[in-house]
Amino acid sequence: MSQPTGPASQGHAHKQPAPPPDLMDVTLTINGSRKTLRVAPWTSLLDALRLHLDMTGTKKGCDHGQCGACTVLVDGRRINSCLTLAVMAEGRTVTTIEGLASGDALHPLQEAFVEHDAFQCGYCTPGQICSAVGMLEEGHARTDDDIRELMSGNLCRCGAYPNIVAAIRQVMDSQAQKDGGKP
Ligand code: FES
Ligand code: FES
Repeated sequence: MSQPTGPASQGHAHKQPAPPPDLMDVTLTINGSRKTLRVAPWTSLLDALRLHLDMTGTKKGCDHGQCGACTVLVDGRRINSCLTLAVMAEGRTVTTIEGLASGDALHPLQEAFVEHDAFQCGYCTPGQICSAVGMLEEGHARTDDDIRELMSGNLCRCGAYPNIVAAIRQVMDSQAQKDGGKP
């Protein structure tokens, strides 16, 4: 006589599919505005920005922490927003490319990128600029080689690297001049 072979016959309790986890509220200050979002716990900060807030200035390249297109500043430090869960940024201050200009006045790095023609397709540019803001704040770069090294997490498939370095160098030098001029 043939024996039943299904899971029940093997003594396993029938498992119900796990219920979907509760959505979570997360409150962030984004470019100076406080926002509360309801997101699934696994939602990346990148998807929270792009899909929940419709802030598409921050770009998705690899979605795996390898290209830097999604770089934003969290509490002033540059991070890959594709590798950060939105809930991890609870209560923090997030600055994206949309938040760098002051009214009609571009951020000095935005101006320098335009002046030095530091982009072609522009897809990597928001990440490059946010990363450069964070890098200059870190204060470790002194030379073009330093800039190349410290910006190495931001890839540019168009190969605009020499112009990107020149743009950042200009802002770095002008900041150094201002700092040197301080009493
Ligand atoms: S999209 Fe985040 S590092 Fe590439
Ligand atoms: S300007 Fe096209 S990827 Fe950098």
